[in-house]
Amino acid sequence: MGKYYITTYGCQMNLHESEKLAGILESFGYNRCETESDADIIVFNTCCIRENAEDRAEGNIGALKGLKKKNKDLIIAVGGCMTQQPNYAIKLKETFPFIDIIFGTHNLDNFGTLLSKRLSGQKRVIEILDKEGPVCEKTPKKRTSYPNAWVNIMYGCNNFCTYCIVPYVRGRERSRKKEDIVNECKLLLEEGYKEITLLGQNVNSYGKDLGDVNFKDLIREIAELPYKFRLKFMTNHPKDFTDDLAKEISLHKNICPCVHLPVQAGSNKILKMMNRHYTREDYLEKVKSLRKYLPDISITTDIMVGFPSETEEDFNDTFELMKEVEYAGAFTFIYSKRNGTPAATYDNQVDEEISKARIMKLINLQNDINRKKSKEYEGKTIEILCEGFDDKKNKYLGRDVYGRMAYFDGNASLLGQFVNVKITKAGGISLLGEIQNGENLKWDFHQ
Ligand code: 5AD
Ligand code: SF4
Repeated sequence: MGKYYITTYGCQMNLHESEKLAGILESFGYNRCETESDADIIVFNTCCIRENAEDRAEGNIGALKGLKKKNKDLIIAVGGCMTQQPNYAIKLKETFPFIDIIFGTHNLDNFGTLLSKRLSGQKRVIEILDKEGPVCEKTPKKRTSYPNAWVNIMYGCNNFCTYCIVPYVRGRERSRKKEDIVNECKLLLEEGYKEITLLGQNVNSYGKDLGDVNFKDLIREIAELPYKFRLKFMTNHPKDFTDDLAKEISLHKNICPCVHLPVQAGSNKILKMMNRHYTREDYLEKVKSLRKYLPDISITTDIMVGFPSETEEDFNDTFELMKEVEYAGAFTFIYSKRNGTPAATYDNQVDEEISKARIMKLINLQNDINRKKSKEYEGKTIEILCEGFDDKKNKYLGRDVYGRMAYFDGNASLLGQFVNVKITKAGGISLLGEIQNGENLKWDFHQ
């Protein structure tokens, strides 16, 4: 049959959902291809968390007009968070009349039914559901990130941070049953996956809608599966991250000592306006406690500048917090106004030039921290899980348990293997090293 091409915008959650779309397409007999011009069906899995993700998607969809003119049989499908926004599908349909299928987040698992309708002659298939349905367990998946496998543990978000569109486009929290998650992990490990990353908008509230399970029990059960693998998870909400969870992580050698703990801002005034339910002091206390249970923990974060009414003093609180915590990595963002969220109506939106200057200060600070942390690796031997080959650098690459990337000489047979690598040179964020054959680890974690 034909070929498919998928473009994904946004986060890991979306990348994994594209694996589901790919699974559905392969169940129809389509095969993946490398370029849009070879495809018989092109799917856009969109994101609307910031305006620039939307702009990019719209630009790329618009660019397909010519391709569609040349090939009348080409099917173009657009789905995901962007289309789930109120009235967005109508706008999309009018702006790009050549789109064949439009679907939202709530019916992504049902993409096959929409595709069948299009294939059996319906000219345009547009279906956006107002409400999330029950968790769907049957969707096939075509995984693309070996040796890592993403596993959804829950969908949606109940937190309503005032800047964020996610709760509006992904609905309320729905947890998958623990047995289903553990079984999926077991099968993946049997198949040879070496890393599992559990996904949820706030994994710490896993199970609250089910009643008798929680995240700590879930990760314990997965970590005890008898395979050599690494277990990771994201994202955490600081208000729900507990000492108990930190303790649990410290008990399992295969749970990576990495916690993504988005702080968003360092000013109490801004945190309150964001509806984050913690203060700067609460957050720093969590960090302290995490480091008590896991002295070597690698903490990463999301940080935003330019939230409405952010003053120089507020920004300085964020800057100082970043300096104090010394994150192992930080995703920095300029606040993007999202229609339909409370913050979009707030006075005193910050001038873009000011936001740009502020974000540069954060990026420079984090670069300095990265360099300092990388230097600490020089001369050490670390266990690396081999992930693939970097054509530009002409080196093999992989990560240690803390998520730090290392490059080294190797061959394709290393994919999915654990190797010991001696770090010879520290770069900004990545490291350069040499494989140590048979040498025991000198620098283990959780010791
Ligand atoms: N503007 C900028 N960044 C945002 N994020 C979420 N919503 C917005 C927005 N409106 C960021 C947050 C979140 C990450 C996934 O995206 O930092 O943690
Ligand atoms: Fe958005 Fe806040 Fe939910 Fe994260 S916790 S998805 S930032 S509303």
